[in-house]
Amino acid sequence: MRNNRKIMIAGNWKEHFTVAEASHFLHKLEESVINHQSIEVVLFPNILTLQPLSVQLDRRKFRLGSQDGFYEDAGAYTGEVSMAMLRELVHYVLVGHSERRHIFNENDDVVAKKMQAAVRNGIMPVLCVGETLQERLAGETKQVLHNQITAGLMNLTSREVGAIVVAYEPVWAIGTGEFAKPDQVEEVVKYIRKQVAELFGERTAKLVRILYGGSVDEHNAISYLLLEDCDGALVGGASLNQYKFASIVESAFRVQQRRTVRV
Ligand code: PGA
Repeated sequence: MRNNRKIMIAGNWKEHFTVAEASHFLHKLEESVINHQSIEVVLFPNILTLQPLSVQLDRRKFRLGSQDGFYEDAGAYTGEVSMAMLRELVHYVLVGHSERRHIFNENDDVVAKKMQAAVRNGIMPVLCVGETLQERLAGETKQVLHNQITAGLMNLTSREVGAIVVAYEPVWAIGTGEFAKPDQVEEVVKYIRKQVAELFGERTAKLVRILYGGSVDEHNAISYLLLEDCDGALVGGASLNQYKFASIVESAFRVQQRRTVRV
């Protein structure tokens, strides 16, 4: 059974690059990324650089996403930038990235509100979920994912959920160089799709895109992209190098071509 979900390669630049550096890097990336048609390549730079990059960006090649966004549209929330403000600049927003959950103590309630705010403002959220090493060793992976998915998708309709993206990012694999094995990813990604089917129906589950993230690089990316249920990758460290990121995009392009032929 094939699917016609479009592969997404997302580059999470985290807290890197000043405005000038981001602009310079984007320029290099535009030169390095050649084949991108029929896949989606989304860049997540820091919020400060979104505006200038939105002017510079070759829209045929890349889309922009925000690494975060606040759930109240406007008000006395010092330091926050709302989804209502971001909507003019981005297509996507990361919600519940493990660094937000663990360093900034974002709980499931905050994640759910951000998901709803993104959808309400017409931004596609990428809901990040994943277990810690301790949870995996204790055999709690599925329970943790179940809870994060159920909470994150609360109050959304089937139609809304069909358009979102879920990123499976085991916390122990993020920024550690220790990536999950493809069969581990396959098992979890299938489980996530099953969860979505139980909550929102089979049709929605077939539409939702599920990515893998955690030490993805130019060597291992292909092994995840070839998994039937995995629709792309969320790349951190390797997205800061134009050759590595372009090579991951190239792998995705080739896999998507193969998928299209077989549909
Ligand atoms: P990494 O980060 O590729 O550096 O592990 C992934 C992420 O945090 O999204």
